[in-house]
Amino acid sequence: MDLFWVFGEETFTIGGIADLDRQNQRSLTAQQDGGRYDISDPQRLIISNVTLNDTGFYTCVAYNTLGYTHSHAYLTVLEPLDEVPVPVRSHLRNYVILIVVLGLLVVMGALAAARFYGRLRLERREKKRAVEKANAFQAMTKKVLIDHQNMLANGTIVAPTIRIERCKPSKEGSVMSGYELPVDPLWEIPRCRLQLGKQLGEGAFGRVVRGALDNPAKPNASIVVAVKMLKEGHTDAELLDLVSEMEVMKMIGRHINIINLVGTSTQDGPLLVIVEYAPHGNLRTYLRERRPTSGYERAFDHETPSVRELTSFSYQVARGMEYLASKKCIHRDLAARNILVGENKTLKIADFGLARDIQNNEYYRKVTDGRLPVKWMAPEALFERLYTTQSDVWSFGILLWEIMTMGGMPYPSIPNVEKLFSLLREGYRMEQPPGCPQNLYGVMRECWEYYPTLRPTFTELVEQLNTILASLAPQEYLDLGVPSPADSAESSRDVSVDSQFELCKSTAM
Ligand code: ADE
Repeated sequence: MDLFWVFGEETFTIGGIADLDRQNQRSLTAQQDGGRYDISDPQRLIISNVTLNDTGFYTCVAYNTLGYTHSHAYLTVLEPLDEVPVPVRSHLRNYVILIVVLGLLVVMGALAAARFYGRLRLERREKKRAVEKANAFQAMTKKVLIDHQNMLANGTIVAPTIRIERCKPSKEGSVMSGYELPVDPLWEIPRCRLQLGKQLGEGAFGRVVRGALDNPAKPNASIVVAVKMLKEGHTDAELLDLVSEMEVMKMIGRHINIINLVGTSTQDGPLLVIVEYAPHGNLRTYLRERRPTSGYERAFDHETPSVRELTSFSYQVARGMEYLASKKCIHRDLAARNILVGENKTLKIADFGLARDIQNNEYYRKVTDGRLPVKWMAPEALFERLYTTQSDVWSFGILLWEIMTMGGMPYPSIPNVEKLFSLLREGYRMEQPPGCPQNLYGVMRECWEYYPTLRPTFTELVEQLNTILASLAPQEYLDLGVPSPADSAESSRDVSVDSQFELCKSTAM
């Protein structure tokens, strides 16, 4: 069987090979048209460099000795796309538009980039300036300035005028604490002489810890002290209060019945106010731990103080207050919680240098043991915020009552502050504690005279208490009754003692 290819008319006449030309057909050979027809595989026709003239029927003819057969296909050649005529002016316009748009985009992009980088540079510069400013601010310390001139106003010791100024640090040490305090060579103690120990107490802003103070003259004889300091994160105002307390203590001088200042560490670190240490803690807890019990069990192995000892306590506090009053110092919070018990049962008034004034909204503020400080306040201090030594005398009367009830809670049955205010105004007073000598109760009642001038002075109180002390037998004890179990624990409700009290109307109104 042989094959050949024919291009031309659709119809192919068998037997007409010789008539191809006549039928307007031509046989395709590999040599034709510069070798455009590839028929190396006769069953397949490959045409290269096709043009429009190649459009037409292509017939494949197969033949042998028996005869011919054929099959054909029509080839359509499409015009090339770029040959579609496009007007030249339209091309040009498109190019111009494209160039203009691209140009605009480039200009706008450049402007946006310039603005962005400009703002970035400005922000960076501002940030740098702020950091420099903050660094410069941090490098500043707060200089504490103390003005002692106004410490006596109306003949009364008031806290010195203390203020803070920002300044460049003049000493390396001040950068450490953030504050620069003036040195007082009379009181300054180098920190290296002090070893701090366990915490003795804490308030909202400060704490007191035990310390051991070296004696340079006697290397192995350190003394135990109490060290007042501020807590971390304190405010400037709290620092000023501690500085003020320190200055008041310096001014007041020494007395056996007050907590005396030992020294201060003001340089190269946080302010430390070093004061005498009282080994037996505060008087309220001291008395409660020594209340008589039923005898079956003792919460603490302590001896109950006799009535004479309790009177001696009252006498000692009166002596301390007489001294403070002579220095024109008003305590403003005289209460058993602020009296400390030192060696040999020596009582010492603490916290007399604190700057304090009860504000309108503070009547309901309780101290750490849950007691309301208003219960110790004289009517004029409560109603007019008038604090004098005579308002301290009223508080001393409440303190006497605390002593004679072995740490009882004043006005236990009064439900709220408003009731206390109205009862005081009406002249009601706490009644005589069980076992309390009549003359001692008489002293309390004098302290609770409504009018300050009718109350005794501390000097008179010292005399009265001294006389009572002399009249008392050494071994007489208070009879507080058999306490309930709840009473042996520290509780804000004084069951055994206070439930026996009722208020009694004052005769001296
Ligand atoms: N708690 C607070 N101050 C104290 C002091 N000076 N001594 C003992 N305990 C205290």
